Amino acid sequence: MQRIYLDNGATSYPKAPLVGDAVKHFIENVGSNVNRSGYALTQTAEEIVFATREEIGHLFNFAQSENVIFTLNVTYALNFLVQGILQPGDHCIVSSMEHNAVMRPLMQLRERGVEFSRVPCDKKGRLRPQDLYKYIRTNTKLVVMTHASNVCGTILPVEEVGKICADNKLIFVVDVAQTAGILPIDYKKIKAHALAFTGHKGLLGPQGVGGFLLEDSIASTMCTLISGGTGSLSEYEEQPPYLPDKFEAGTLNLPGIYGLHAALKYINKVGIDYIREKEMHLAKMLLAGLGNIRGVRVVGLMGIQGRTAVISVDFKGYDNADVAYRLDKYYGIKTRCGLHCAPSAHRTLGTFPQGTVRFSPSHFNTEKEIKITLSALHKALKDLGGTG
Ligand SMILES: Cc1ncc(COP(=O)(O)O)c(C=O)c1O
Repeated sequence: MQRIYLDNGATSYPKAPLVGDAVKHFIENVGSNVNRSGYALTQTAEEIVFATREEIGHLFNFAQSENVIFTLNVTYALNFLVQGILQPGDHCIVSSMEHNAVMRPLMQLRERGVEFSRVPCDKKGRLRPQDLYKYIRTNTKLVVMTHASNVCGTILPVEEVGKICADNKLIFVVDVAQTAGILPIDYKKIKAHALAFTGHKGLLGPQGVGGFLLEDSIASTMCTLISGGTGSLSEYEEQPPYLPDKFEAGTLNLPGIYGLHAALKYINKVGIDYIREKEMHLAKMLLAGLGNIRGVRVVGLMGIQGRTAVISVDFKGYDNADVAYRLDKYYGIKTRCGLHCAPSAHRTLGTFPQGTVRFSPSHFNTEKEIKITLSALHKALKDLGGTG
């Protein structure tokens, strides 16, 4: 059976060309660690790790490559930032569209005396930046926000929020899991203090590598979540205070970084504009087709302005899980059904607890695949007793 992969919001498939080759090359021909031994292969690996930090910096208009920290994924990155910045007695502000990668660390911190407030977004996932003012307190230290919803694709106004944070001396952390590699992201324009990214979604790299970049002023006052060997300052039992070593204890995922390096080179070559245009063209087709099917409620924005290509659908009168199951079993169409690790976003959108079926194309999908998906959806709904 054909495979039509529309689950890029979860993880991208296929990966960028040459990602697999780069991972294989590291495993079969390089194999050495970085920062630990002095032979030539170590230096080759060190060069690729450094070049990858530079590519990430270039992508986000961030000049300090040594302040690009690698972790396993954005969940780890957000945990480093949120748990490293907030101390008992501090207050944090988030939007009501956050992923559990933000909410769960905050719930954990609440046990330790950290408070947080949720700025409500509207039923389409939009945030009014000025609403932030209602939640700023004397002990507010941090604002954490996703750049775009992983449930319905709505883009949050991070530049306006960044300005409010700067005016009120608040630290601003942005989760770019759903936008890196897909939207142009300018660290300076956003006025963020840190960005957290993951390598396996829009960055088209392998799973197991992500990270964050941050300003010196934040890094120096932040404690690290994990400490241990770095291959540097080995005579001391304390963690090195400088970057990236302060936050990179233990051996890095070097095969993953080689893969991510290849992916970033690809993104650079084809350009974010091309990727965005192609994705939004497919999203437009999908949205138009979905609008013509009875029983389909697209959750969030119906047009392509202000959103990414992540599209969530609630099938009124059907069990969403049945629809997703049929699409996969009979037509090979891969979507993601449920709450997408973002119960707060679903509550905001009015789709809790039933969740939605999420279609998330990438620029590797084709018009033909979207047409097949829409026709399969008509058939699947008919088979489930609807009029299709
Ligand atoms: C907005 C957002 N934040 C965080 C995450 C967590 O990503 P990862 O599993 O790569 O840590 C995701 C992915 O589902 C996401 O969409």
